[in-house]
Amino acid sequence: MNEPTAGAMAEALQQALRGTRTRNPLVGAAVLDRDGNLAATGFHPGAGSPHAEVNALAAARAAGIDLSKATLVVTLEPCAHHGTTPPCAETIARAGIPRVVFLASDPTEAGGGADFLRERGVTVEKYDDESRLPADSRLLAEQLNARWFRAKREQRPFVIAKSARTFDGYIAARDGSSKWITNAAARSDAHVLRSRVDAIAVGAATALTDNPRLTARDTSERTLVRPARVVFGMRSLRPGSHLDDPATIRLSGAHLASDLRHLYRKGVRSLLIEGGGKLVSSFLRARLVDQFISYVAADLMGSGNPAVSFPGVDSIGERQSWMWDPSGMGASAWLGTGADLNLRLQTIPKEG
Ligand SMILES: NC(=O)c1ccc[n+]([C@@H]2O[C@H](COP(=O)([O-])OP(=O)(O)OC[C@H]3O[C@@H](n4cnc5c(N)ncnc54)[C@H](OP(=O)(O)O)[C@@H]3O)[C@@H](O)[C@H]2O)c1
Repeated sequence: MNEPTAGAMAEALQQALRGTRTRNPLVGAAVLDRDGNLAATGFHPGAGSPHAEVNALAAARAAGIDLSKATLVVTLEPCAHHGTTPPCAETIARAGIPRVVFLASDPTEAGGGADFLRERGVTVEKYDDESRLPADSRLLAEQLNARWFRAKREQRPFVIAKSARTFDGYIAARDGSSKWITNAAARSDAHVLRSRVDAIAVGAATALTDNPRLTARDTSERTLVRPARVVFGMRSLRPGSHLDDPATIRLSGAHLASDLRHLYRKGVRSLLIEGGGKLVSSFLRARLVDQFISYVAADLMGSGNPAVSFPGVDSIGERQSWMWDPSGMGASAWLGTGADLNLRLQTIPKEG
């Protein structure tokens, strides 16, 4: 594999990070022109939007690149299935690209694009010389979708836990009030996140205290999409409350791993857990959270309902270690949303 391909793969990996982690993996792509120059790039912003390859090809066309002599470099094997968008493999074949280089094979039902393209005369190579990548790209290649693939292997949704908290770690005051811990920018960011997942869950206490709607709304209160709504805990909800709806999925929460597999069988590929602290803590303790998003307000409470609390860690060596997740955030894993911080973390893949 030559140097231009290595450079393009490093760039494609950086592009992939611009997307958000939801029901689809993060993917980036780059196009090399006939002379091996990096001519265009693309990334997949998130579920429901065009895939990285399609965006990179469109950018190359817009730049006047002759695709019949170009190479497409992509971080994941192009998809061959009809999801919310047409199969990328078909789009690539139609574009007349003669050579495709991909980094990771796609073991999911969406895979198979490599064979599809080979059958149509395209030269398809799996990038197998990661030693040529810069050290940070090698690490990124290893970590980019590790948890996402793990969720697939375990036949459970990719799990994102989210909380809004004071900077000393409380999600609600002692009287249970929690509304408006964070500012309007953070709340609107949270609605974008909701619009990109298949289901949103809360614990029974949050359902009773906050009566949340769990819908994705924009600032004008227009409902964008309707993810499935899930309540963990079997207590009766208040008649007429937003989640007192036959369509709400009720789960006991006694066996979280099997509850997640149940949701997967119902077609839920990404689950956003919006609290409260007890439910999120149980998921964290069971190591079933793939990404943790925390909106941190510049407020101090000193006491109240903690964002996370569980027994079992008696010495520092038993702590769970996480790392910053720069996906969907540009260069930084934590960005200000007005006066609030938006903290994104992911588990360290090797640790699991
Ligand atoms: N700032 C924020 O981001 C935010 C977000 C959400 C909520 N809140 C606030 O948080 C407070 C409620 O939080 P909370 O921590 O007290 O309760 P919670 O996590 O919302 O709900 C706890 C309940 O969930 C059910 N549950 C089912 N499976 C569970 C499991 N494996 N682990 C834990 N719980 C499970 C149980 O109900 P059953 O007893 O019925 O089985 C349990 O009592 C409210 O004041 C709310 O306003 C704040």
